[in-house]
Amino acid sequence: MAVTKVLHVSDLHLEDGFPGVPFSAFLNKRVVGYANLALRRRKVFTHAAMKVEALAAFAKEQSVDLIVCTGDYTALGTEPELAYARRVIEPLTKMPLGFFTVPGNHDLYLRDTVEAGWWDQYFGGLMKNDLPEHAVDGVWPQVWLPADGLAIVGVNSARANPKPTHSSGRIRDPEIDALIRILDDARLRDRFTIIATHYAPRLANGRRDRPAHGLENADAFLTASACAARGVILHGHIHWRYHVRVPETPLSICCAGSTTHAGREGLWILEVGDGPVTATPGTWDQSRYVLEPAEALVLDP
Ligand SMILES: [Fe+2]
Repeated sequence: MAVTKVLHVSDLHLEDGFPGVPFSAFLNKRVVGYANLALRRRKVFTHAAMKVEALAAFAKEQSVDLIVCTGDYTALGTEPELAYARRVIEPLTKMPLGFFTVPGNHDLYLRDTVEAGWWDQYFGGLMKNDLPEHAVDGVWPQVWLPADGLAIVGVNSARANPKPTHSSGRIRDPEIDALIRILDDARLRDRFTIIATHYAPRLANGRRDRPAHGLENADAFLTASACAARGVILHGHIHWRYHVRVPETPLSICCAGSTTHAGREGLWILEVGDGPVTATPGTWDQSRYVLEPAEALVLDP
């Protein structure tokens, strides 16, 4: 079996203004989000689009077969942001085997984003489903069988969350049940399975995230993930790259952090083949993305 190289990135947070967005669209949590963007976020994501271009070059240089992005392409979930982000990531979608994604909370920021269907409009074309019979709402969970020995399952943990003080997420209960059925499906049994979602089921220290920021049903998600014979959970939302193992699941948990956040840029390259499955972290060295092979991990011997 050939080795499949998977590049995991997350939280690209691309934004290039809000042309055409009515003032009324800011008379809600966006006013807080916009203040945060203007005062803090824009400084750390100034070069995000340039870094995405560099990421495409890095993927080519590393002979990456496919990219998994665990969401948060935008800042405030407005249409110009989703349209802009989709344009910027186009080169990432051109990997030899393709591109797989789930939305982040910023991509489904408020009810207007969800009701207008902007995520579906701009990113719906990237959704994949090789086993649609398991989807509980037409899309989720997504199952992709991109190569021999590898399955990727995308679970949606993001939702509109109008409370200004909250950025927590939740996987809908029917999707958790579907995840269990998928991981039990004979067609996945002999494959290494990547479970991709936006929210962190655990922090770097193995503890739960705080209720206002974390995944409400992280425990149920971890219990479901334990049905996988072999695999890893990939996620973002926390803007620091890390790897953690916890007693609730035999799967490793890898957070890419934010691949574009200045000073914290993170990514992973997984290699899945006949031998041990490895994960090598990567970072930004001020001009390009580089791997840190001394920090490589064996995810599955
Ligand atoms: Fe997030």
